[in-house]
Amino acid sequence: MDIKSLVRKNILELKPYTSARDEYRLGILLDANENSFGSTFTAIDGLSLNRYPDPHQNDLRKLVGKYFSIPPENLFFGVGSDEIIDLLIRIFCEPQKDTALIPEPTYGMYKVSCDINNVHTINVLLNDKFQIDFEAIEKNYAENVKMIFLCSPNNPTGNLLIKNEILTLCKRYNTIVVVDEAYIDFAEDGTVINEVKDYPNLVVLRTFSKAWGLAGIRLGFCAANEEIIKLLFKVKAPYNINTLTRFALEQAIKNNEIKNTFVKKIIKERDRLKHLLETLPGVIEVFNSDANFLLFRCADPKGVQKKLASERIIIRDRSTQPKLEGCLRISIGTEAENDELWDALRKIL
Ligand SMILES: Cc1ncc(COP(=O)(O)O)c(C=O)c1O
Repeated sequence: MDIKSLVRKNILELKPYTSARDEYRLGILLDANENSFGSTFTAIDGLSLNRYPDPHQNDLRKLVGKYFSIPPENLFFGVGSDEIIDLLIRIFCEPQKDTALIPEPTYGMYKVSCDINNVHTINVLLNDKFQIDFEAIEKNYAENVKMIFLCSPNNPTGNLLIKNEILTLCKRYNTIVVVDEAYIDFAEDGTVINEVKDYPNLVVLRTFSKAWGLAGIRLGFCAANEEIIKLLFKVKAPYNINTLTRFALEQAIKNNEIKNTFVKKIIKERDRLKHLLETLPGVIEVFNSDANFLLFRCADPKGVQKKLASERIIIRDRSTQPKLEGCLRISIGTEAENDELWDALRKIL
């Protein structure tokens, strides 16, 4: 597949921003108008916060590459995976001309990012099992579809997409297929991250905001073939990943056992809460979840959400999304939080 044929012409021709640090990182650094005297915040020893971070993300790529067994050349980091979604749209979709195809219901940022970039979206539906509907895609596919956005496990439905079907889509269409695996740590299996070496148009998104408990540091990454990674480096802001974020991630990877413990606890609570919800007469359906949230259907979602909010328990109303009539989404809290939620829901439903 010729990835270049999918890239916007101005991006192919773009001369990216360069800095002296691309060539030199050591010595008397008088090239970037930094403050050579020091920084006003020095709480963490050894971090030179007065200096710009590495534009090539080399330490992060090595560290995360080693942890996930992915070659560093196939990795790119963004300010959350949300930044990467935006950059990909900017690389591949010509505003007002190209389109992105988004099987729904799914995570809302794909469409919002397209809207911000003035890129039209084609909204097709997932099938009744919230899996890829090949017929619907075939019917709506056009020459100018440059990207397809998939989310697995899908937010807000919670299910993994079938791996072979994702790969079939990659083979069938001459378009970039983005698979957002933000919640993959909570699923038994089903990742396609190792397939990027065989599928040049596949981009897999990951985030440290969920299982790793690091939503506050804003760090996500993608794995993709080297050509796409190089394009991402070409268009990103020069120093997008800050030094404090890099430092936090280094500590987190050292503490990865904590992440594994979180995942176990969250899955245990997810299963407990699912069983409890299923016993409530006012609950019509609780969907299976491979993520850190549960989706359930009831008769009066807005009323339930409001009543919970009056007890200071905040959940998400998803009932206006296609196929999700009556549906509410609950993120899995701690045991104590879930107990409080349960007490409140028992009264309401
Ligand atoms: C499917 C999905 N992708 C991406 C994100 C955003 O991730 P990040 O915090 O890395 O920007 C979210 C956040 O809720 C999400 O649900």
